[in-house]
Amino acid sequence: MSYKINENITWVGVTDWELRTFHGEEYSTHRGSSYNSYLVRDEKTVLIDTVWMPYGKRFVEELKKEIDLSKIDYIIANHAEIDHSGALPELMKEIPNTPIYCTANGIKSLKGHYHQDWNFIPVKTGDKLNIGKRDIIFIEARMLHWPDSMFSYLTEDNILFSNDAFGQHYASEYMYNDLVDQAELEQEAIKYYANILTPFSKFVEQKINEVLGLGVPVSMICPAHGIIWRDNPLQIVNKYMEWAKDYQENQITILYDTMWGATRRMAEAIAEGIKLQRDDINVKLFNVARSDKNDVITEVFKSKAILVGSSTVNKTYLHAIAGILELIKGLSFKNKKAAAFGSYGWSGESIKLISEKLRASGLDVIDDGVKALWNPDEESIIKCMEFGRSFTEKL
Ligand code: FEO
Repeated sequence: MSYKINENITWVGVTDWELRTFHGEEYSTHRGSSYNSYLVRDEKTVLIDTVWMPYGKRFVEELKKEIDLSKIDYIIANHAEIDHSGALPELMKEIPNTPIYCTANGIKSLKGHYHQDWNFIPVKTGDKLNIGKRDIIFIEARMLHWPDSMFSYLTEDNILFSNDAFGQHYASEYMYNDLVDQAELEQEAIKYYANILTPFSKFVEQKINEVLGLGVPVSMICPAHGIIWRDNPLQIVNKYMEWAKDYQENQITILYDTMWGATRRMAEAIAEGIKLQRDDINVKLFNVARSDKNDVITEVFKSKAILVGSSTVNKTYLHAIAGILELIKGLSFKNKKAAAFGSYGWSGESIKLISEKLRASGLDVIDDGVKALWNPDEESIIKCMEFGRSFTEKL
């Protein structure tokens, strides 16, 4: 399937309605995704990015319906990850000598993936490729989110092809941001940022300032996943700037796992204590063993503080808590307060271990936490409520 964006630009990607996990099992894709590839026609014809490997054959077959492949003069690989470069092996069988423009790191990655010595042309920020009336200007976007990542800016049409940046894992029959459900779009965009880009926020801020500093007009942002930003395209850039600055909303998220419900009762009592102290705070509770980990991470991203609770089992915390703590550690959240809680029967190590892990992950642990022996009695429940209240007071 193809879709005409304007007289010169055609979307030739794949919409993947079936996708439910991405990066192996690391990222849930409740609404599928798309792999966006763009054909730009001027005096020369350029293909920007391809699609994920399992769709490689289909991509090439569909592309042949759109253009005689021998008419493609240049390929641009903005990013080497296989969801965008995966069709290259199929495509290069047909047009083996076509130059592939990418960063020097892109060449290393593409060679690492495919072990092919294609006709690579390394480019750097500011390099231009003239294709007739238009130029394509390359902008390296190192660590957004891989060392090889790059943006390509098309003059005349004023389009930024941003690859992963500003994308969303969001399959839609609609092509543009103004046509889709705005709540769904916002949710998928923030989830994408929270789970993929959080560790690189410093680079996001620098890169956006650099691109805006060029003073070039941007009439559309065409990412490599999800919808195209055509209505006020800078709205997503402004969102990224906001998200990159240690984003937080007026929210406390309580994450727990529970064996027989005691830690759950504690979580609920803590939530009650928070509301007693500050009625305006949005408190959300997640049993992480029963929740989607990436949705939970999105809520952590939005929080000013988190509370993490687990029963103690075998002198440690439960494995679902171990999993979410590891994700939190990897994402290097900044400017978030935290504390631990949990029930126990005899040894009760989970609170201390969770606190240590949160501290080692860069969170500001502002309280020693609260424990309850066995199933919390009335006194323990009051202690949990008081803990929730005093924790909130310290924020
Ligand atoms: Fe969409 Fe980094 O690949």
